[in-house]
Amino acid sequence: MDLEEFSRKLSDILSAAESEVRSAESSSLADLRAKFLGRKGEMTKMMKHLASLPQDMRPQAGKLANETKKKIESLFSGVVAPQKKSYEKFDPTLPGRKPIVGGIHPLEWTLRRIVDIFYGMGFSVASGPEMETEYYNFDALNTPEDHPARDIQDTFYLERKGWLLRTQTSPVQIRVMESQKPPVKIIAPGRCYRRDAIDSTHYYTFTQVEGLYVDRDVTLADLKGVLTAFAKQFIGENVRVRFRPHFFPFTEPSVEYDFSCPVCDGKGCRVCKGTGWLEISGAGMVDPEVFKAAGYDPDEVQGYAFGMGVERIAMVKFGIDDIRLLYENDLAFLEQF
Ligand code: DAH
Repeated sequence: MDLEEFSRKLSDILSAAESEVRSAESSSLADLRAKFLGRKGEMTKMMKHLASLPQDMRPQAGKLANETKKKIESLFSGVVAPQKKSYEKFDPTLPGRKPIVGGIHPLEWTLRRIVDIFYGMGFSVASGPEMETEYYNFDALNTPEDHPARDIQDTFYLERKGWLLRTQTSPVQIRVMESQKPPVKIIAPGRCYRRDAIDSTHYYTFTQVEGLYVDRDVTLADLKGVLTAFAKQFIGENVRVRFRPHFFPFTEPSVEYDFSCPVCDGKGCRVCKGTGWLEISGAGMVDPEVFKAAGYDPDEVQGYAFGMGVERIAMVKFGIDDIRLLYENDLAFLEQF
């Protein structure tokens, strides 16, 4: 071996030591130390090679070998020392940091509760797209082209012709009936969008739960029964449900339905604006035209349908007086729930 080869070997050993120590678990450091610095280790072998070098090269080679050995030793002290230090610094008596725990948003809580109650009454959950076509959102729901609900002021139309952001969850009724035979018993929770002027009770987006039950011999009494059963579970045994005649293109007859105000029990208060009733949404018996559009025979089946405004219900439940609070994600507000 000559000096050049000797010093190449040393630098090989050093770089091996560097990379192995860097990636080593602390439990294997003792083994590594033995491998490089131990009595039968790499450096001891190199020291023995010194003797086989020509006399005049030995001082320089010895110096190189000692330097390498020192560098390898410092590798080990570099790794072990800081670990020891950080253990010494650790103070187990310090109080811990409290983890931040999130909560369920009041709107999401209300939605889950509504879905849960209907699920318990045998409804399954259906869904449809928020980007809808005019056909599903209006035409198939017996809403003719000149109906005010189709007015540009109420609807967000998309650039793609014939497409819009759904203004209601009712189009899911059509999609469900197109894809399955009667009987159907579904609810469809989801987001809707309207070009409403924003104020404390209106927002450009809101949540509805649609309901649809189609079978033989379904009547308006069944509708009132299911909405009453829902209200009793959501609000309490004493709640009353009332129907008021109304018009919707997709139901005949149509009603708007109200729950007695849970805050004042129907006596009249700030929340129900003195009426004793809370307007929830619309409902009715599915119009034969809707059945035809969806491919059902109106002589064979009847059905009821209803919508439900989730924000309204959440606001009463949690005593929230401005719908915008439900969408602003202000932590100071949300942390109260
Ligand atoms: N889609 C109606 C709305 O957004 C609510 C509604 C009324 C839904 C009557 C229905 C229904 O299913 O039968 O105002």
